[in-house]
Amino acid sequence: MSDAQIEQILRIKEAFGDRLIIPAHHYQKPEIVALSDIIGDSYRLAVDVSRTDADYIVFCGVKFMAEGAAVLANEDQKVLLPRTDAICPMAEMIDSDRAEKAFAILSAVSDRPVVPIVYMNAHADMKAFCGKYGGSVCTSSNAQKVLTHYFDRGYSVFFFPDQHLGINTAKAMDLDEGDVRRLRRDYSLVPVYEGDTSDDQALIYVWDGFCPVHQEFGTDQIESLRASYPGIHIVVHPEVEKAVAEAADSTGSTQQIYNRVIESPAGSVWGIGTELHFVQRLAAEVADRGVTVYPLADRICKNMDKTDLGSLLAALQEAQAIEAGKPSSDLIVTVPAEVRELAAAALNKMIAIVEGA
Ligand code: 13P
Ligand code: SF4
Repeated sequence: MSDAQIEQILRIKEAFGDRLIIPAHHYQKPEIVALSDIIGDSYRLAVDVSRTDADYIVFCGVKFMAEGAAVLANEDQKVLLPRTDAICPMAEMIDSDRAEKAFAILSAVSDRPVVPIVYMNAHADMKAFCGKYGGSVCTSSNAQKVLTHYFDRGYSVFFFPDQHLGINTAKAMDLDEGDVRRLRRDYSLVPVYEGDTSDDQALIYVWDGFCPVHQEFGTDQIESLRASYPGIHIVVHPEVEKAVAEAADSTGSTQQIYNRVIESPAGSVWGIGTELHFVQRLAAEVADRGVTVYPLADRICKNMDKTDLGSLLAALQEAQAIEAGKPSSDLIVTVPAEVRELAAAALNKMIAIVEGA
């Protein structure tokens, strides 16, 4: 059955030619990655997809990614998400009521002006919220650059939804422990570091969202890999808890991890703390160069895992149906015009900061 599905997918792709592209996030199943036109981390995908002229963008990832593509697409382009139930739990951990309330509280507490910065892993309305208040989106590959941009201009930052990316980035930037505060979901402000008794003036206020996939990685997994493979280099995604990031040798977005391992010398050994499909594909790609890759633990993102050959084929058939003027399902991702404009401002702000425009 899957060979027949692959054939059908390839046939439809060929018929559309350049008018249809399939971007896929690194965490997608290997058979989906093999059929995609662009593979990358959240930043790379957002930038590359924003530059395509294709009429149809069949996004293999989770909802916030397809929404991001729809925000940056032009009016005539159609973004389809093969599985509309592929949501990111972290993106569900904040909404506009909570963001408005949190922002008002922090603006009252902080002596410095506060600007909201949203991690890419959030819905379009949260990106629009940042656009409305002069903030920006960031991803795991550029959080440091985006924070620096605002710190240099005298702002403190309300960073959401991922506390760990915020805390790990603050650590990588050598901020003082007292410069980081967490805003809990009951809106109480608490220190992040044990024993920190400083006041609530901080440079970064993190919301307490998290990724259920990455939060499960532990320092024990790192210790056990180090014991088995002396000299191993441990790299983890910055969505892990700070103790895990501190125990690792380095952190990076999926694309940064990919590039580092692909470019590593023969004989090197890696332990990787991120989603399993990605780690296994990377291990297979470098095996014949004598590079060895071990996962810290077998963690799959069950939402990324929902897209399969069947749902990709159905999305391509839907593109054909739209083309024939007979759309039959709700796979098209749309973002209301008022959200779109403000969300685009926050996404383009990130791109301008990162690309130095
Ligand atoms: P990046 O690919 O941008 O590192 O993000 C990882 C992730 O969790 C996406 O959902
Ligand atoms: Fe969301 Fe985590 Fe899955 Fe990424 S890996 S989509 S952050 S749940």
